[in-house]
Amino acid sequence: MSSILKVTGLTQVFGGLVALSDINMTVEQGEILGVIGPNGAGKTTFFNALTGIIPPTRGKIELMGEDITGIKPHIISSKGFARTFQNIRLFKKMTVLDNVMVGLHNKTHASLLASLLKTRSVRKEEAESEKKALEILQLLDLDDFRYELAGSLPYGLQRRLEIARALATDPLILLLDEPAAGMNEQETEDLLGIIQKLKELGYTIIIIEHDMKFIMNICERLYVFNHGAKIAEGTPEEIKKNAAVIEAYLGKES
Ligand SMILES: Nc1ncnc2c1ncn2[C@@H]1O[C@H](COP(=O)(O)OP(=O)(O)O)[C@@H](O)[C@H]1O
Ligand SMILES: [Mg+2]
Repeated sequence: MSSILKVTGLTQVFGGLVALSDINMTVEQGEILGVIGPNGAGKTTFFNALTGIIPPTRGKIELMGEDITGIKPHIISSKGFARTFQNIRLFKKMTVLDNVMVGLHNKTHASLLASLLKTRSVRKEEAESEKKALEILQLLDLDDFRYELAGSLPYGLQRRLEIARALATDPLILLLDEPAAGMNEQETEDLLGIIQKLKELGYTIIIIEHDMKFIMNICERLYVFNHGAKIAEGTPEEIKKNAAVIEAYLGKES
């Protein structure tokens, strides 16, 4: 099986701080991979490096065999990375549906002039976008809220809308940065069900998460970061028993 993503020797230095140190990772098609580790371990920096927000200091990132290291974020996203952020970044004054349509817009071809003139082909494209957006909202159980303003949704649904928007770009890999953060128990459980559904549909996902129960439930394989280095890799069962992990992460959890 060929890997969707291959990361080799990824290193990120900020001034004197080594935020990522020689990270190697491979991700296979359809896999749900977890990245865990204490605060400041370098998890978000890892996503930032993958998506080109901060060009890595050293190392190589290959997506479907293509070297994408150091290329611009919008080009990387058009090649198939989509992500959500640790802090919600929605257009709060826009409807739920429009938030997803914005994600789709990257994929539509109408020129600005054609959009302004609302030519027939533009109207057709808009109708198709709306249909696609609705399908995505259904997948995330958000279709009942399509005409509500994003900012008026309860927190857990806003986080889900972020995932919907990311999916609209039709990504090869979906990166979720602490998707369950701040959710109550019910919201977390609902999210678990949705990620399970995405997995069954064949999506490839990397999840950073603080909630151990959540991540152990959904991922077949986990990577553990500490102080920018990968200290362990394995199945949830292996990770639970790993002494270095217990010391670095579980032991410190309060
Ligand atoms: N753009 C940046 N400039 C300088 N330091 C940064 C930057 N981004 C992250 N860091 C530092 O890198 C370390 C790892 O941060 P981060 O990746 O956010 O950790 P995590 O997501 O695992 O909590 C932290 O010490 C953080 O302060
Ligand atoms: Mg983080």
